[in-house]
Amino acid sequence: MSQDQPQGLARGLTNYGDPDFSVYLRRSFAASMGYSQEVLKKPIVGIANSFSGFNNCHRHFPELLEAVKRGVLLGGGLPIEFPTISLGEVFLSPTSLKFRNLMAIDTEEMIRAQPMDAVVLMGGCDKTVPAQLMGAASADLPAIQLVAGPMMTSRHEGERLGACTDCRRFWGKFRAGEINKAQIDDIEGRLATTAGTCAVMGTASTMACIAETLGMMLPGTAAIPAVHADRLRAAEATGMAAARMIHNPIRPSQVITEKSVENALRVLLAVGGSTNAIIHLTAVAGRLGIKVSLERLNQLSDETPVLVNLKPVGQHYMEDFFFAGGIGAVLREIRPLLHLDCLTVTGETLGDRLDADTGRIDRNVIASVNNAEEPEGGLVALFGNLAPRGAILKRSAADRSLFEKEGRAVVFTSLADLSARIDDPDLDVTEDDFLVLQNAGPRSASGMPEAGYLPIPKKLSSKGVKDMVRISDARMSGTAFGTIVLHVAPEAAVGGPLALVRNGDRIRISVRNREIELLVDEAELEARRKAFTPDVVPPEKRRGYDRLYAEQVLQADEGCDFDMLRPVGG
Ligand code: FES
Repeated sequence: MSQDQPQGLARGLTNYGDPDFSVYLRRSFAASMGYSQEVLKKPIVGIANSFSGFNNCHRHFPELLEAVKRGVLLGGGLPIEFPTISLGEVFLSPTSLKFRNLMAIDTEEMIRAQPMDAVVLMGGCDKTVPAQLMGAASADLPAIQLVAGPMMTSRHEGERLGACTDCRRFWGKFRAGEINKAQIDDIEGRLATTAGTCAVMGTASTMACIAETLGMMLPGTAAIPAVHADRLRAAEATGMAAARMIHNPIRPSQVITEKSVENALRVLLAVGGSTNAIIHLTAVAGRLGIKVSLERLNQLSDETPVLVNLKPVGQHYMEDFFFAGGIGAVLREIRPLLHLDCLTVTGETLGDRLDADTGRIDRNVIASVNNAEEPEGGLVALFGNLAPRGAILKRSAADRSLFEKEGRAVVFTSLADLSARIDDPDLDVTEDDFLVLQNAGPRSASGMPEAGYLPIPKKLSSKGVKDMVRISDARMSGTAFGTIVLHVAPEAAVGGPLALVRNGDRIRISVRNREIELLVDEAELEARRKAFTPDVVPPEKRRGYDRLYAEQVLQADEGCDFDMLRPVGG
């Protein structure tokens, strides 16, 4: 840190028109918390703590926080924790994504407004890590991410269970009548039994892997289980590293670069990661003016094999991934595809890290490039007249027999329409049809929920149909699977072509050609376009954050960030 920059408590003074008075007043009020004058001379590491009673994944943060503080003290800094809002995935309505940008604003502004020289970001559950990375990128103070770590698995009737792929699998069995009410009640109590984030390569785990790959987190810490002693040691080491960053400041803008974002995309593809991560990485990169192109994603996807055998696509859980070598092992495998000169929060480059890292690797969980789980990446973007700005398909979680297919559209105009009719015995639907959900994008009333995993209509699921082509402007949980086309942009609520689809229209998808086409002639589409009226409450009829969201939120291909939060001047 430069010598003329005030440090610690003297940073960012409250404005009373007399800086010396501001320092004196601040020190005296800080002294009221029991700090000695000697301690108050130390540089400060802020700790953004997203603990909440509404966030089961962060249940262990009090213990983790103590370890971070210990590390900061050992590193010669003064640790000061501050709360930010938290986003417990299943406790938020209408959906946690709506509040990701609120948490990002909270994180950014509290980093900027309070006197700290570096910051540790404690997050984990789904939207919390992207929110913290977005906020930290914009604040651009030296920052280091610490994640909650994944949950451990549990058991039901001798079978291993882990949130939340198994949540969906067993719910599907219950809907199909394969298990009874007593069994689903028993499973409900066993799906999530420890602290930590969902136990599979869902969004939280994918974002942890991305944060480590970007270089914003200590090496080897993404996959350590939440309840493992190594997680506490990682927290202590993170605190020490943050204290070191005071003297060797490395800012997010030096770590999150075009090259490190491309590395993160490679890893996202290689781990068969969550579709949500594309939105989040786009938003994080966008804070620093870096564009994530879906066309580039397709190029990378062609060259990057899927290496991990983890649910929701494969067999294993995150705790297995940790013991198999974690993200370090994946990075070593795809080393020739990576930009090795990217700086990380430790001051080393990614190449330095990989040179030093000769750790373990379990081939049951992490394959070699020559013996990959899939020869191509897990995600692919589709374009066409139905999605001019792109749509995402997680091909690694989809049924390949549905990749080149034409089908009849069965349209649901909203989530309410979907839940009212999907199980109607009179619904005109066959397994060859395409289920289409409209008005579930970022500007819709539902706020882009994880509803893209449309349930298979009961009349078909009870006959054993497990997958169908499903298309929407919604998202899908990172723990879900199926032939599901998501994030269609522009969305239906703003008049995107998805809004023009009618029951009985023909749609063609071709994963090989990266295409999604609505097979309706242009004159008819134009007539429908003219008749379109948006089904959203206009911003001026809303208030508070809801209004800000409606005015500002961008489309999926822009990361659903707020327009005003992108860098000034674009
Ligand atoms: Fe927190 Fe899944 S509910 S990561």
